[in-house]
Amino acid sequence: MEHSNNHVSMAWNGIYGQRAVGPRLAVLNSLDRVREILDNHTDSIEPGGVFGMADYGCADGLLSLPVITAASEYARGRECRDISVYLNDLPTADFNTLFSVLNADQLSRDTGIASCVLAAGGSFTNRVLPRASVDFGFSASSMHYLEHFPPDATDAIHEVFLDDGAIKENVLKQAGQAWLDILRSREQELKPGGNLVFLLLGRDEQGRYLGSTQGASMFQAYQEAWDRLFAASGITQDEYQQVFFLHRFRTTEEIQRGVEQVRREGVALQLLGIETVITSCPIAAAFRRHHDERRFAQEFVDSHWTWTEHAFRHALQSRAAEEAQQILDDLYRDMVQIVAADPLSYRMDLVHHRVVLHKNR
Ligand SMILES: C[S@@+](CC[C@H](N)C(=O)[O-])C[C@H]1O[C@@H](n2cnc3c(N)ncnc32)[C@H](O)[C@@H]1O
Repeated sequence: MEHSNNHVSMAWNGIYGQRAVGPRLAVLNSLDRVREILDNHTDSIEPGGVFGMADYGCADGLLSLPVITAASEYARGRECRDISVYLNDLPTADFNTLFSVLNADQLSRDTGIASCVLAAGGSFTNRVLPRASVDFGFSASSMHYLEHFPPDATDAIHEVFLDDGAIKENVLKQAGQAWLDILRSREQELKPGGNLVFLLLGRDEQGRYLGSTQGASMFQAYQEAWDRLFAASGITQDEYQQVFFLHRFRTTEEIQRGVEQVRREGVALQLLGIETVITSCPIAAAFRRHHDERRFAQEFVDSHWTWTEHAFRHALQSRAAEEAQQILDDLYRDMVQIVAADPLSYRMDLVHHRVVLHKNR
């Protein structure tokens, strides 16, 4: 099958993980729930066995560490022999940084349990790990990604700007199918009695989503900046329309519907819980202390440049590298100006649905 997400890549060399202050906070805020699920709902390990933990869509691995530590503490307490840490992302991810951050020897010393670090490069819509190898699976801010561009061109850079029509329909269909594939694949990888905790970027009941919870919308600022570049410079119509973030911010209803559907097919996953969690933007909070508008705008844009740039670079792929870089520099400079002009309105709050699933024994 031809995949069209082969341009999706976070910034390399650990820059994504270092700047992802909001996503890091979201992971840290879920650690108590992770520990509670491990302690009270995990019924998959044999004494002296190997504990398997997986992180799906792990990027450079920097944000996985606290979850790996929690899983290691649990596995050590249950007298497991080893822990196998499986890290999954697309083949376009920075696996070199991943292995330097998550070095097995260091991890064994730090966590006090023999650790193997293994990577699976492939789409999590497929099975990426051996059957019945995972006791605990985690994923944060990753499973909203889609695999294919909609067949029709659009001026909108994100599905949040589309109310209906063929493109929205395609996005919803893809997201629905991807969620079913994710659930079926994870169930095969889980050991009976194992659990999954997913932080899915989504849309809450009030229609709030990433970067659009109150005040101005982050994606609207990107749309404005991209529209302005199109109007003012030599970007072609084709390039203009090639920017479309491969995302769907699912509702809790879409998530529940998928779980019910796979359960009807005999997939042994039980939904233990689904709750919507908003993580307040730490960069906006810092601005309210330092009051430096320029610094805020730069830090704010830098924090998402790391995961937005690939979408714009992809649109400029037929250009010489220097020319494309010039356009990207102009785009991000404009973004800083847009944000600096109205700094109190912007905040990248994260809206996650925290989904907990258990595989019945
Ligand atoms: C925004 S990053 C999240 C990284 C990290 N988990 C966090 O908490 O911030 C999204 C990651 O999902 C990965 N991703 C997107 N689609 C994927 C797919 N179909 N299969 C595996 N990884 C995918 C991207 O490559 C990227 O590294």
